[in-house]
Amino acid sequence: MLRVAVCVSGGGTNLQAILDKIRDGAVTNTEIAVVVSNNPGAYALERARAAHVPAVCVSPKEHASREEFNTALVDTLEQYRVDLVVLAGFLVVIPPVMVERYRNRIINIHPSLIPSFCGTGNYGLKVHENALARGVKVTGATVHFVDEGTDTGPIILQKAVAVEDGDTPEILQRRVMEQAEWEILPEAIDLIANGRIQVKDGRVIRQKG
Ligand code: GAR
Repeated sequence: MLRVAVCVSGGGTNLQAILDKIRDGAVTNTEIAVVVSNNPGAYALERARAAHVPAVCVSPKEHASREEFNTALVDTLEQYRVDLVVLAGFLVVIPPVMVERYRNRIINIHPSLIPSFCGTGNYGLKVHENALARGVKVTGATVHFVDEGTDTGPIILQKAVAVEDGDTPEILQRRVMEQAEWEILPEAIDLIANGRIQVKDGRVIRQKG
């Protein structure tokens, strides 16, 4: 059984998609060991509690320095003996020590087709504002492993979503979530839990079968 930590900062709709797909058997061999938030007010923590999953807040405000916060974050993951860390709308820069400790065992969902509209400053609604400002006709979402860069790690899955006339950032964000994020993030977890992917030379290789 793959022990997963889901790290969240906000509403937690991606967390909900994972919980639902584990419950329905679409994601197998997986248990959510803990949900971690940097934000005590994150609705995602409520979702975790409702699903009887341990919900922990590790807030930078409760630590004297960034180093202490980073240590507390890694300590929490160690305490729950997690095999995989899933960043599901976690608006925290992942410390290098955590990337090193969990090499190719941290995944992130990003609401665009990387390498478009990603990197520092491209998160949440801003990604969709930037996509609409550029006038792209197709956008989507990406699940990737986390390395030392911002949105630069090996890509696991991507799904395209059409941009439609009259879209607002909010409308487009919702469509990308419904049609892409809530599908590919649970699917990536299922693939990892069942030993179906490997990272080789910085690229993800998917096993057949
Ligand atoms: C999602 O759209 C996720 O892709 C995005 O934050 C949202 C969280 O929503 N993440 C990023 O932009 C990371 N760069 P949720 O809390 O409802 O899952």
